[in-house]
Amino acid sequence: MATRVPGALTRTAAPAVAAVEALTRGFGERTVLDRLDLEITRGEFIALLGRSGSGKSTLLRALAGLDDEAEGGLSVTGSVAVAFQEPRLVPWKRVHANVTLGLAVPDAKEKADAALAEVGLTERAGAWPLTLSGGEAQRASLARALVRDPDLLLLDEPFSALDALTRITIHQLVLDLWSVHRPAVLLVTHDVDEALLLADRVLVLDQGRIAHESAVPAPRPRHRDHPDLTSLRRTLLAALGVSPEGTT
Ligand SMILES: Nc1ncnc2c1ncn2[C@@H]1O[C@H](COP(=O)(O)OP(=O)(O)OP(=O)(O)O)[C@@H](O)[C@H]1O
Ligand SMILES: [Mg+2]
Repeated sequence: MATRVPGALTRTAAPAVAAVEALTRGFGERTVLDRLDLEITRGEFIALLGRSGSGKSTLLRALAGLDDEAEGGLSVTGSVAVAFQEPRLVPWKRVHANVTLGLAVPDAKEKADAALAEVGLTERAGAWPLTLSGGEAQRASLARALVRDPDLLLLDEPFSALDALTRITIHQLVLDLWSVHRPAVLLVTHDVDEALLLADRVLVLDQGRIAHESAVPAPRPRHRDHPDLTSLRRTLLAALGVSPEGTT
C-alpha cells in the first residue's frame, strides 16, 4: 500500500495511487525538485503546469521509476505507464509490435489488438512507425500505455506537437479512455486551457514545489468558455507569471 503523506496536499480519504514526500532532485548545483509533496488519488485526472525548466519531466521520471537519484519518499501502488511528447516508437518494429514491446503476458497479442481498436488504429496495426501521421503515432503511444493497464498514467506533453484539430480529437480520446479504464492520470502540459478542459485538479510547479493547486469546478463535458473556468484560468496564468493580457 502507498503510505499517506502528511501535509497540505493530503486532503482526501480516497486511496492513493502515488505518494511523494519531500522529493528532492538536483543536477549539479541546481535543485530542481525541493522537498516536493504530492499525493495522487486513484482514478483522478491531474494536470501539471509549470514554466519550462521548472522540473515537470523530472517529477514524471521519478514517478515512472526512471530516476534512481531523486531523494525523499516516493511510493507508487500498482502499475505505471508513460507517454512522452514524442511518441518514441521503435522504427524497425511495426505498430502492433511496438504496442506489445516488453509486455510479458500470455495474451499480449489480444491485448494489443484491443488497445489498437480503442484508439482507432486497427487498420494501421501492420504499418511502420515512420509512415504514421503525428496523431496516429501519438495514438499508438497511447495504445502502448493502455495495454499495460496502468493504475497511473503519466503523460508528458503528449499533445503539444499535434495540430489543433487532431488535438481536439485526441483530448476526447483520452477522456474516453480515462472514463472506461479509470487510471489516475498526471498530464504535463503548457496549455492552461487544455488543463482546464481535461483535469479534475490542476497543479503548478514552481521553485521545486507544488506552488499552487486548484480543483476544477466545471462539470463534464466542459467548454472552454464555461463561466466557472474564467477566474481559475486567470489565477493559473498569474501563478505561471503570465498576465491576463498574455504578457509576462
Ligand atoms: N539529466 C539532466 N542533467 C542535467 N540537468 C538536467 C537533467 N534533466 C533535467 N535537467 C535540468 O533540470 C531542469 C528541469 O528540467 P525538466 O526537464 O524537468 O523541466 P520541465 O519542467 O519538464 O521543462 P519543459 O517544460 O521545458 O519540458 C532544467 O533546468 C534541466 O536543464
Ligand atoms: Mg518537460
